[in-house]
Amino acid sequence: MKIVKRIALVMAGVFIILQFIRPTKNITDGPPTSDISTKLNVPPDVLGMLRTSCYDCHSNTTRYPWYAEVQPVGWLLNYDIQGGKQHLNFSEFATYPLRRQFIKFQQIGEQVDGEEMPLPKYLVMHADARLSPEQRERLVAWTYAMTDSMKATYPPDSLARRK
Ligand code: HEC
Repeated sequence: MKIVKRIALVMAGVFIILQFIRPTKNITDGPPTSDISTKLNVPPDVLGMLRTSCYDCHSNTTRYPWYAEVQPVGWLLNYDIQGGKQHLNFSEFATYPLRRQFIKFQQIGEQVDGEEMPLPKYLVMHADARLSPEQRERLVAWTYAMTDSMKATYPPDSLARRK
């Protein structure tokens, strides 16, 4: 019995120490000058969907749930946020080169259409982020509208993937 008690105490001690090792929060104050909505055509309903379903992992400001305060959960969330931002950051979208914007619109359409985004594990705790079939259709149609208007505005080689 003594040994079990001792192991339990050590584990509790480790858990407490873990609580002091915290990832930096993904929160940026100030005007969102490079946000996709500042320079590109994002209708309010589309922006609302992106904010609710994507911005927690694809922007410079995450709305943290309470359990992010508990380690190692906070680290796991941080891992997805860093990975998400690296692939696509709506807070910096307006600074992306044209060809990157073009590719990202295509990828957003693919990910949403294929129900790969928002990440399924995220939906377990964020039911409001789940997209209905109509919402998915709306988002995908918007990505087509964006790539079409880019194709109509810019020369093809400014949008093509670099060889
Ligand atoms: C819980 C965090 C999370 C949420 C919410 C989320 N994503 Fe992601 N997203 C990621 C991560 C992490 C990656 C990196 C690649 C991977 O792990 O699949 C990613 C990658 C992507 C990519 C790049 C795929 C590629 O081919 O490089 C796109 C596009 C994308 N997400 C779109 C979206 C859209 C649109 C939404 C909202 C409808 C969304 N994501 C919601 C975490 C998230």
